[in-house]
Formats: sequence, structure tokens, C-alpha cells
Amino acid sequence: MSLTSVNPTSADPTFPPGFLWGAATAAYQIEGAVREDGRTPSIWDTFSHTPGKVLGGDTGDVAVDHYHRWRDDVRLMADLGLSAYRFSVSWSRVQPTGRGPAVQRGLDFYRALVDELLAHGIQPMVTLYHWDLPQELEDAFPSGSAAGGGWPERDTAHRFAEYAGIVAGALGDRVEMWSTLNEPWCSAFLGYGSGVHAPGRTDPAAALRAAHHLNLAHGLGAQALRDGLPGRARIGVSLNPSAVRPLTPSPADQDARRRIDALANRVFTGPMLRGTYDDDLLADTAAITDWSFVGDNDLRIAHHPLDFLGINYYAPAVVSAAPADAVDRQRADGHGASSHSPWPGADEHVSFHRAPGELTAMDWPVDPTGLKYLLLDYTAQAPGLPLYVTENGAAFDDVPGAGGQVHDPERIRYLHGHLAAVREAIAAGADVRGYYLWSLLDNFEWAYGYSKRFGAVYVDYATQARTPKSSAHWYAKVAAAGELPPSPTLD
Ligand code: FCB
Repeated sequence: MSLTSVNPTSADPTFPPGFLWGAATAAYQIEGAVREDGRTPSIWDTFSHTPGKVLGGDTGDVAVDHYHRWRDDVRLMADLGLSAYRFSVSWSRVQPTGRGPAVQRGLDFYRALVDELLAHGIQPMVTLYHWDLPQELEDAFPSGSAAGGGWPERDTAHRFAEYAGIVAGALGDRVEMWSTLNEPWCSAFLGYGSGVHAPGRTDPAAALRAAHHLNLAHGLGAQALRDGLPGRARIGVSLNPSAVRPLTPSPADQDARRRIDALANRVFTGPMLRGTYDDDLLADTAAITDWSFVGDNDLRIAHHPLDFLGINYYAPAVVSAAPADAVDRQRADGHGASSHSPWPGADEHVSFHRAPGELTAMDWPVDPTGLKYLLLDYTAQAPGLPLYVTENGAAFDDVPGAGGQVHDPERIRYLHGHLAAVREAIAAGADVRGYYLWSLLDNFEWAYGYSKRFGAVYVDYATQARTPKSSAHWYAKVAAAGELPPSPTLD
């Protein structure tokens, strides 16, 4: 990858008319109310209640109580002048067993939320799956596999399509923007490979099977949405492509980059954008699986025509050709340490290095060039496909001041740099239609529990009080002006 640069003062600072200024959240990270109105446990309920899996023993049982505070949260968004909001639906809230009939109370919650958003002029984007598989589906063994069900099982993809049809039926008259999956890489490789995410399995072959069934689920789900939604609906997916660079230009380091590009990116974009698994991916993983679980029509199904691609970006990766150790892997996937790898077949060949740059509280380097690179790279790979940045943001150790206000100049700098990257990508030809800051609110950050604060709005977890941070006020000003100020300061 060529090193792109981002210079916040160089490009035209204005964003295109109609550009969406949004924020994003996910059901398990904010809703709480895990036992209310017929909801059953998801794999994240089970995982977070398993000792040792989540820092501090934190769970999403209460989270930020969005299930009860959603009206106030929509008002917060309106006060900040947001024009878009991306949220996910909790599968086990609307279809508790992961199969069969829906629960009306669950669907009513999301209908009311959407109505409130629309009443405030905020465009909703629904993500169907942000990692919270109904536990019943993880416990189901349709093919008799002793290891467990879940995404390594083909049937889960069919269950997902049924669920997609249910949500389309309930919200299709009022929601235009739909995303099938959030970051299937994490579901497959952190959930079934390194095991740092739910359901916490550590089986490289299962991780690859999961990846394939997520591709299939995406295609089947997109078709179910297409069948159930009005023609104006726009259907996409949110990926977390890795902006992966070789440490040096040496052929060996370039080959390490190729391997990670295959396992992080092309394992999903191959089927979804081109209807194929690349030969190098199949060869690199041949000792782990023969991919015989790929059915005749699967790749055609996964290659469903998309209306947009969502890109989630936080930090780039740097790789070289050398064996990886556990510390390398923690830096690479950034979601927690494990003695198991999220990179099936790559460990003997690849080592991860930290990219230069200031570090966030996640220890992720701040480097907006990766975002610009990805937006231009996917513009080249899928010409004409509209792009949205469906997640971007940073955790810092925010502490309220004496008057309760929360100053987070680092987050303002982070957002300023990354919005400049978006603006430059647009100037260079990328059709980027919107940006969703991660996250609206501080929330349950998966294996890190409540220890990492990504919100533009601070949440006092003892009282659930919400306080917009300086970055929220800054973002509101940028959104109102539709242009980036020259420097990352509030005034
Ligand atoms: C992404 C997830 C999101 C959040 C951010 C920090 O990988 O999609 O839920 O955890 O990371």
C-alpha cells in the first residue's frame, strides 16, 4: 500500500450537500434490559457472565439503560444536530429462540425508536447483526457437530435470513438504510478463533466456517430484505477492512501483507463484491480446512448487489514476515489478548508491529491515512458503489472536571484528522455519503467492559447521567456548518 498523507488544511473543507452526520451504537452495548419483554440471552450475555471473559466481570445487563432512556437519547442526538443514527437490532429481543415467530413487544421498541428519530429529522440506519447471536442458535447442533452450533453451522445463515425478513416486515415502511452484518471478521475470528469475543471458541477451522456462513448469511439476508422492503430501501454491510501495510518493501513483508489482506479483507470482500474466494486464501488455509462447506450456489448468493458499503475504521496494521507472538496478536486485533490466534494459517508467517502515532486508550495508533487509503481502495475495487464510514472514533480516559464538564481535546483531534481524511478521499473521487461517529454514548466495550469510553457523550454509570463531551459540541458545529474548521479546537 502506498502511504497516503492527510493534511487537514489543504483540501476544500466543505462536505457534499446531503452528507450524513451521524453517530453509531449497538444493541448489546447500550440497551440493557436483557430480561425484559421476552428477550432471551444472546451469546454476549452468556460470555459476559462467564468469569474471566470480560474485564472487571462487566456485563451488558444494564449497560447505559437505553431500552428505557431512548427518548432522551434521541433528544440528545437532535440537540447535537445529528442527521443520521446507526443502531443495531437485538435478534433475541425480536425473535427469542432465533427461529419461529417474532415477539411484538421487541419489534414495537424499535418501531417507536425509529418514529422518534424520524420525528426529529434523524435518518435511521438499521444493522441487523452486531454480534449478539441468540444463545439458542449457538447451542443448536443441526449437523450433529459436537463442538457447537452458531456461525460455523450453515443453518445459522438461514435463520439469519428469516430474522432479516421479520425486521424488514416491522420496520420496512419507515427505514431506508439497512446493513446486514457489522464486522463479520470479528464475529468469525474473534468469536471462534482467538476466543476473545463471544462465544469464545478457539478453533481455526470453525472460524473459517463461520466466516463463510456469515458471507452466506449476508447474501441470504440481503435477498430477504430485498424481498420484504420497498424499492427505495438501500441495502449494504459494514466491514472493518484492515488498512494493512508491509513493514518494509521486501518481498517477504509484502507477502505477509498479502496473507493478512486475504484473511482480514478478501475473505469477505471476495464473496460479497466479486463472488469468489481468492486462490491464495484457499491455499494459505488448506492445512486447516478444505472449504468443502462452500455450497455450489453460495458465492453467487453472497455476491448480492449492494447499494452501499459501510467501512468501519479505527487504526492501521503493519506486518512483516516473522512468527507472531501473543503480544503481536493483541496489537493486531486490538480486542484483547489470547494465546489463540485470530489469523488461521498465518502465525508462522506474519508478525504485527505497531504503526507510529499517538495512542488512544485502546493502544491503537491514531493514523487517519489508513481511512483515506481504504476509501480510495474500495472506490477502485467497486467503482460507483457509495461508501459510508459507518464507524470511526477513539477511546480516551475521559474524566469530568469539577463542574461536571468533560474536556476531550484528544478526541477532537482524532475526529478532525479522520474527517479531513474523508474529505480528501472525496476530493480524490470517493463517493462517501456519510460519517457515523463511534459512538454516541460511552458504553459496554465488549471484552473491555466499561473501562473504555468511546462516547461523544459521557455516561456516569452510577447515575446514567449523560453529559456531552467537548467533542460532541465540536462535532455538532462541524455537522451544522457542513465543513471542517482549519484547526481541531472548540472555538
Ligand atoms: C468495533 C465494533 C464496535 C466498537 C468499536 C470500538 O469493532 O463494531 O461495536 O466496539 O469497535
